[in-house]
Amino acid sequence: MTVGHAPGSLAALPARGFTVAMGQHAGPRTTYDTAMAAAYVAGRALPSSAVQAWMTAARPHLPGRSGRLLDIGAGTGRFSTALAQACPATVVACEPSAAMRAACQAFCPSDVRIVAGTAEALPFAEDTFDAVWASQVVHHVEDLPRFAHELRRVLAEGGAFLLRGGFGAVTDIPLYRYFPGAWSADSTHPSLPHITDVLAAAGLGRVAHAQVPQVFAADGDELLYKVGTRSLSPLAALPDAEYHAGVRRLRADVARGAFPGPVTERLDLVVFR
Ligand SMILES: C[S@@+](CC[C@H](N)C(=O)[O-])C[C@H]1O[C@@H](n2cnc3c(N)ncnc32)[C@H](O)[C@@H]1O
Repeated sequence: MTVGHAPGSLAALPARGFTVAMGQHAGPRTTYDTAMAAAYVAGRALPSSAVQAWMTAARPHLPGRSGRLLDIGAGTGRFSTALAQACPATVVACEPSAAMRAACQAFCPSDVRIVAGTAEALPFAEDTFDAVWASQVVHHVEDLPRFAHELRRVLAEGGAFLLRGGFGAVTDIPLYRYFPGAWSADSTHPSLPHITDVLAAAGLGRVAHAQVPQVFAADGDELLYKVGTRSLSPLAALPDAEYHAGVRRLRADVARGAFPGPVTERLDLVVFR
């Protein structure tokens, strides 16, 4: 079973479901407009077992009843929803893109509050939250020290920052074998040691780190479908020719039966306090 967003037909998607804008200093960045929101809903759904694996890893760090939890860069709300179900805290989803917020509104339960804002200028008073979750967002943040300062400001004393992302080797994520340029050393993704240093300077120390296996696609056909939505920002940022060459290699392997069963990848959950 897929949580929230059922895969639809590729034909229903715009030919190119995103635009790529140049960031100030970190290379191409994805613009989360209406087309990308549609591509994201179609291409980034996770099976409920994968979402539950993340909630199992996160649960020891989540607030209890009367607590407050912030999901930064919540996107379409796939994790805001899961977090609201995994703990009794009040969940707030903060997201800068109006298109992603609209998708989030459609997807999240009504008790999740959805607010416009960026990681670098969080629209909340100090000490508001007992935990902050940020999934696959940190590579979009243009000013990491500013983000770290904002985290420290809105987190209550002893509060947890839960960072979800892929910080391991390229081999942890099978699809990037076909798109080596999307995972190169000069990509826009800040490394975990760098993020850890920036957060430490703001007073947040690393207290836990787990690698969480998740099923990204049920089989090769679904992997091909998800890659075809181009809703992963490293694929969105690739030159078209490089992206299409990778798709051709993947399609040939799928046709050869290289992915007969679930395609599992490993991402990281890193916790700071
Ligand atoms: C890859 S999506 C992740 C969405 C969601 N967290 C998830 O895991 O499904 C990245 C999200 O970060 C948002 N974003 C981009 N720049 C941001 C910033 N400076 N601060 C907060 N969110 C940002 C985008 O609009 C997009 O919704």
